[in-house]
Amino acid sequence: MLTVPHTIAALAVLPLAAALQPVPAFKPVRARRTVAQSSVSPSRHVSLPYQSENSSAVAQVDADFNLLTLNLEDVASVSSVDCSTTSVTITFSSESAYEDSLSYWPSSDFLLLTNHLGDCDTDSKRGVYKASSVSFDEDTLSVVATTTQTSFSDHIEYFSVQFNSSAPLSGRKRRDFSVSDTLDYDWSGELIDLDDLEIDVYSSTLTATIDLSGAIDYNSTTEAYNGYLEFDLGFVGDIDVQAYAKASYSDDLYDYTVADVSVSAIDIDDIIKIGPTIELSLGVEFAITGSANVTADVTMEVTDGKIYIDLLESSGSYTSGWTPTYTADANLTTEVDAELNPYVELDLSIGIDILDVVDISVGIEATAEIVNEFSVDGDFSLSSTTGASLTDGSGSCSNGYWYACDFVFDIEAYVTDIWSDTLYEVTVPIYETECIAF
Ligand SMILES: *[C@@H]1O[C@H](CO)[C@@H](O)[C@H](O)[C@H]1NC(C)=O
Ligand SMILES: *[C@@H]1O[C@H](CO)[C@@H](O)[C@H](O)[C@H]1NC(C)=O
Ligand SMILES: *[C@@H]1O[C@H](CO)[C@@H](O)[C@H](O)[C@H]1NC(C)=O
Ligand SMILES: *[C@@H]1O[C@H](CO)[C@@H](O)[C@H](O)[C@H]1NC(C)=O
Ligand SMILES: *[C@@H]1O[C@H](CO)[C@@H](O)[C@H](O)[C@H]1NC(C)=O
Repeated sequence: MLTVPHTIAALAVLPLAAALQPVPAFKPVRARRTVAQSSVSPSRHVSLPYQSENSSAVAQVDADFNLLTLNLEDVASVSSVDCSTTSVTITFSSESAYEDSLSYWPSSDFLLLTNHLGDCDTDSKRGVYKASSVSFDEDTLSVVATTTQTSFSDHIEYFSVQFNSSAPLSGRKRRDFSVSDTLDYDWSGELIDLDDLEIDVYSSTLTATIDLSGAIDYNSTTEAYNGYLEFDLGFVGDIDVQAYAKASYSDDLYDYTVADVSVSAIDIDDIIKIGPTIELSLGVEFAITGSANVTADVTMEVTDGKIYIDLLESSGSYTSGWTPTYTADANLTTEVDAELNPYVELDLSIGIDILDVVDISVGIEATAEIVNEFSVDGDFSLSSTTGASLTDGSGSCSNGYWYACDFVFDIEAYVTDIWSDTLYEVTVPIYETECIAF
């Protein structure tokens, strides 16, 4: 096959910042459960529920601490908690709970967790206090612990972020937290304006919805983690693009910088932070051997795509539901070889910070491209940056050109330097090669 001099003119626009809703922050919530009096007894294992501020998303952390720990919010008969830099004063509303504290609490070296029962913590975090001694005041039913303020990361030995229950998947219990987002964009304008090349987008609508859920376990002793992230995605793109070329394009690569949108992180105390960055771009690959006008009008839609990322291995990762619907229509004005390939690209990168000790980064790139190829003698193929190429027609196509059109879609993903893989790849012919008369 002849390699035709060409240019790939790729332009990506990220116009979505204004339309992005921040991901709701997670806040500690008090467990809505009936708690027995015996919960006055500290334990090494504590469950901590969270809820996002303005959505139904919930998270739960089950943690093993390196010291006996009392989560004060679990004790129904605590009537007030008062903190200073050196002490935590706990007052009980019931005498029996007070008596229980006398018998169950160690005399030193245990943790007290606070949650909005006094001036002990900020709005979005629980307080963590390490007690070095305790004194009891029977008259006021209160216990004064001499304390220093400490952090979850200093005392958690193991945790799993828990979740909304759903059906077991491949034998693994699922535990989710979940965030949703919608990106919306309408645009039209000039992509490229050079002396002899102009590419315009006449209308472009890009809409994407993203749901993120997942579960992560972490062992502080080994610094080993395990877990998964799951993305449920949908997007609709409608692109109407025209290229006016007054010359043959060769050797130049037009590449435009794309801005990032950082969505505010999911921040669960100092236990885990998950910071997603979403980038949705529109691009055009263009190549031509002479002067002509090329037009293409494409729509692409995926309603129920799922990407499941196993944090440890690509073999446990998969995608499903990528059944795109699309339409494409393209025209060329004169006898030249050309390609005009509009594409939509969704980049997700997710930084996960566990106890300020471990950083994991997860990246996903999903690219949907419509490859429109025009060839006079059947000998033309663009070396597309997305790897797409078509089978040319052969022989003469009198007073016309060979035209072929494919939908090309792929999903690539990586987790830190643990694995990197193409999770999905499909090429669907929209038009088999045919001869189109001028
Ligand atoms: C939640 O909703 C309130 C009231 O609409 C708003 O002031 C606040 O900024 C929202 N918080 C987040 C994290 O979106
Ligand atoms: C999570 O679970 C809670 C309680 O079961 C439910 O109300 C909520 O809708 C769920 N949220 C998501 C995003 O699934
Ligand atoms: C964490 O790792 C240590 C060392 O391998 C192990 O002894 C411990 O059981 C692990 N903890 C959990 C909860 O799996
Ligand atoms: C390409 O389109 C421009 C603008 O509509 C027009 O002026 C020009 O004549 C066209 N060229 C060809 C070769 O059709
Ligand atoms: C291509 O040409 C046909 C026939 O003139 C027209 O109906 C169609 O709208 C054109 N498509 C594009 C994308 O310009």
